[in-house]
Amino acid sequence: MAAAATERKIDRMIQLLVKNATVVVSGPKIASQIGVPHSTLGEWIKKLRELGLEIKGHVGTGYQLMKIPDLLVPSLIQAELGKGQIGQQIVHYFSVGSTNTAALTLAQRGARHGTVVVAEEQTAGRGRLGRNWYSEKSNGIYVSVILRPPFSPMAAPILTLMAGVATQHALRAATGLDPDIRWPNDLLVNGKKVGGILTEMNAELGRLHAVVLGIGINVNHGEMPAELKPLATSLRLESGRTWSRVQVLSSLLRELENHYLLLLKEGNPAIAERWAAASSFACGKRLRVVTREGEALATTTGLDPTGALRVRYDDGREESLVAGEVIEVK
Ligand code: BTN
Repeated sequence: MAAAATERKIDRMIQLLVKNATVVVSGPKIASQIGVPHSTLGEWIKKLRELGLEIKGHVGTGYQLMKIPDLLVPSLIQAELGKGQIGQQIVHYFSVGSTNTAALTLAQRGARHGTVVVAEEQTAGRGRLGRNWYSEKSNGIYVSVILRPPFSPMAAPILTLMAGVATQHALRAATGLDPDIRWPNDLLVNGKKVGGILTEMNAELGRLHAVVLGIGINVNHGEMPAELKPLATSLRLESGRTWSRVQVLSSLLRELENHYLLLLKEGNPAIAERWAAASSFACGKRLRVVTREGEALATTTGLDPTGALRVRYDDGREESLVAGEVIEVK
């Protein structure tokens, strides 16, 4: 059975309890504000408890939220956003296969520009190059944003770079950490990956219907699985403290809005310049370049305005990379 998006009533109930955290809210008040009969309130409270919220019942007076949950539900995120289009519509799942798959389906059904799909957990999270994305419950951010840019499908790579720069700004603003960007889309802290971006689209020849920017961020993972440890980390592991996922995600959505508008207004060079300034991989980096044709050693020589990474191979050949993987050689 396909996963169900979080009901609007559950979202509203969480919002009400969070707003009144630590005080007792009366049963009739909760029932009337979320629009359910008072007689069914017990069932709704049970659902919330099953979802992991710690709620204490006080006989004759009402209910009290014992701990503010760090849940990425629409009402808590939207309270942190401005009037931009990204995040006006948010679809939340407690558990879903992949937010990118869900977003592609919504896009096909006509979801509007800026629609966001977010999950507490993914059971089939997807990474680039056919890899899996480790999506531990409640500790990461797994989010997909539907964009409907007035571009041709050829312009999709610049959107990935735009998302990389926006994510870097958001992480910096929310945590004070200073992530690097590895071309094309990996966010690194102390040389290890904390975030990645998977861009997918709904297009036909020459016509772009929708782009889905799927962003995964390892936020509060206390330990990475053994096979990922050498390559991946979390914001918590690098900073020694946990972070509010609500704050990190809302910062990310605000930065995506800002950078998308910048791209529309000033065009590709504005993003390419910012990416080049933000990434230690843009120029002079020694790399092993892995493409479908094979592997070779190279040095980066800059980013072209379309978002392709220019490299000079050790045998003197030059190339602009639009796909593939680069591994730093120290
Ligand atoms: C990568 O670095 O390989 C890209 C990782 C992208 C992961 C995110 S998590 C949200 C969205 N849904 C997915 O299934 N993948 C992306």
